Amino acid sequence: MPKFAFIAHPITTEHLYEIYSGFAGKILSFFPKNMLKELLLRLPPVSFGVCKNVKSSEGKTIEGEGFLFLLLPEQIAMLDEKFVLDKIAATIKKAKESGAQIAALGGFASVVGNEGEKLAKQVNGIAITSGNTCTAALTIQGILKAALILDVKIENTHMTVIGATGDIGSICSKIFAKKVKKLNIVARRQDRLSNFANALRRSGSAEVELFKRTSDAIKGVDIILSTTSSLTTLIEPEYLKPGAIVCDVSLPANIPKEIVNIRKDILVFEGGLAKLPYSKEIKGKNWNRLLPGDRTYGCLAEAMLLSFENRLENYSIARGNITEENIQEICGLLKKHSFEVSDFFCGYKFFTEKDLEEIKKCKVKGNNYAGVL
Ligand SMILES: NC(=O)c1ccc[n+]([C@@H]2O[C@H](COP(=O)([O-])OP(=O)(O)OC[C@H]3O[C@@H](n4cnc5c(N)ncnc54)[C@H](OP(=O)(O)O)[C@@H]3O)[C@@H](O)[C@H]2O)c1
Repeated sequence: MPKFAFIAHPITTEHLYEIYSGFAGKILSFFPKNMLKELLLRLPPVSFGVCKNVKSSEGKTIEGEGFLFLLLPEQIAMLDEKFVLDKIAATIKKAKESGAQIAALGGFASVVGNEGEKLAKQVNGIAITSGNTCTAALTIQGILKAALILDVKIENTHMTVIGATGDIGSICSKIFAKKVKKLNIVARRQDRLSNFANALRRSGSAEVELFKRTSDAIKGVDIILSTTSSLTTLIEPEYLKPGAIVCDVSLPANIPKEIVNIRKDILVFEGGLAKLPYSKEIKGKNWNRLLPGDRTYGCLAEAMLLSFENRLENYSIARGNITEENIQEICGLLKKHSFEVSDFFCGYKFFTEKDLEEIKKCKVKGNNYAGVL
C-alpha cells in the first residue's frame, strides 16, 4: 500500500507545547525562549501519528505518517542552511525507514533548500514534493469561490499579491494577471520583482504595478493574497477596504488572526487548504491539532493525491517551476478524489452564511468597522 509522509515543524512556541502535551509540554513552557531554541537544536525528529486506511472515492487505500523536525520558523530562516537541511534530511530518512515512499515538505521545510530541490539530491529512495502545486491550486480556487459568493466580478477587480516572486505567489500571479483588471505585486527584492512584472505584462492582460511596502500595495484593493516567507505579520487591518477578500497562505500568518473580531466587514481566510472527503479515517488526535475538523494543508493533500495515483515521484520541486498545466492536473486530481477547497476560516472561526451576507452588505454600502480599531 502506498505510504506518504508529512514533514512539518512547530509554527510557534505554543504549538510546540501542544505537541509535547501534558507534563513535557508544561516543562518546556517554563524554559526561556533562548534556552528552548538551544534545546531544539539537539532534539531528534519525532513521529506525531500514523493515519491508516485513507480511502479515495476511487476505492484506493493509502496510509500516512506525520513527522516533525523541531525547529521554529525563525530558526529555519536564520540558521546555517546546511544545518537545517541536515535536520530535515534526517526526518525524511526516518519517514523512509517507516515505509513512506513520498514526503510532503510542510511550511518552511520547503522554503529552505529551494523548494525540495536540495533535499531531493540529499535523500535517496523516497520521492519529495513541496506540495506547492496543490497549495496554489486550492488558493486560486478559494479566491474565486470567495469572489463568487460576495458577487465580486473578478474581471473588474484590483488585486494585490504579497510575495509575488515566491513559488506559490508567482504561479498565482501569472494566473490572476489573466483574470483581474489591475494587479499590485509586492516583494522586497525589487530587481527580481521588476523582471517578474515584465513577464506578467507579456503573458497577462492586467495592469501591473510594483511595490516594496505592503501597506502601500493593499490600500483600497478588492482582493489580497499573501504568500510570503515573512516571520512577522505584514497586513495592517486598518488599510483594508470594506468588503475586501484577504487570503493568507503564509505560515506563520501574515495577518493577525484577531482581525476576524475587529473587522467584520471583510472576508479573511487561511488559503491553500483542502477539505477531505473522509475526515475520520484520515486524521487522528495529533493530526487534528494541526487544523480543525476535516481540513488539511494543500501540501499534504498533494502527497495524498500522488499516493492515490501511485505516482511516487518528485513533483513540486525547485522554485518557479509550477506551470498552469501542473495546476490543471492537480485540480483534476482534487476533483477525481473528491477533495474540495476548504470552507472559509481564520483562527478557528468559520465564516457562516450570515457573516458572508453581512460582508456583502458592507461592500455595497461602503461601511466599515475600522473606526473601532
Ligand atoms: N497553507 C499551506 O498548505 C502551505 C503550503 C506550503 C507553503 N505554505 C506557506 O506559504 C508561504 C510561501 O511559501 P513559498 O514556498 O511560496 O515561499 P518562497 O518561494 O520562499 O516565496 C516567498 C516570497 O515572499 C517574499 N517575501 C518574503 N518576506 C517578505 C516581506 N517581508 N515582504 C514582502 N515579501 C516578502 C519573497 O520575496 P523577497 O525575498 O524578495 O521579499 C518571495 O516572493 C510560506 O509561509 C509557507 O510556509 C503554506
